[in-house]
Amino acid sequence: MATNKTFTMLKPDAVENGHVGNIIQMITDAGFKIKAMKYTRLSEDQAKKFYDVHAERPFYGELVEYMTSGPIFAAILEKENAVTDFRTLIGATDPSDAEEGTIRKAYAESKAKNAVHGSDSDENAQIEGEFHFSASEIF
Ligand code: CMP
Repeated sequence: MATNKTFTMLKPDAVENGHVGNIIQMITDAGFKIKAMKYTRLSEDQAKKFYDVHAERPFYGELVEYMTSGPIFAAILEKENAVTDFRTLIGATDPSDAEEGTIRKAYAESKAKNAVHGSDSDENAQIEGEFHFSASEIF
């Protein structure tokens, strides 16, 4: 059964390039409520664990290096059909394939530095949210 929550990270390129305010505005304008949010920096161990599913991919080392290169905003978002609707809002992994009006079209630098993460399933949304937040940090 679909849940109404998803998990996102505004990645180091989005923070470094000053896009956080505009991206949060796009997220809330699209009807998502912020249930939890923190400004933090992933350790190498955290990034490796978070992206473990990509461990065999050739870009894994680059991905871990990039995701630990600067601070991120992590958040849990709520909306009906949150996972699907958020992935529509962020657009394709590669910004050159992303539709007009999506966050990645507007703010991503490249396929690797693609501004924002969105969970790909309800199950992963829950796992990823719990990875970053304790129960007392979710409202
Ligand atoms: P995301 O979909 O949030 O999670 C996996 C990430 O791996 C993806 O965003 C990109 O940041 C990164 N990624 C995916 N494919 C590539 C690639 N071919 N080269 C470099 N990084 C990639």
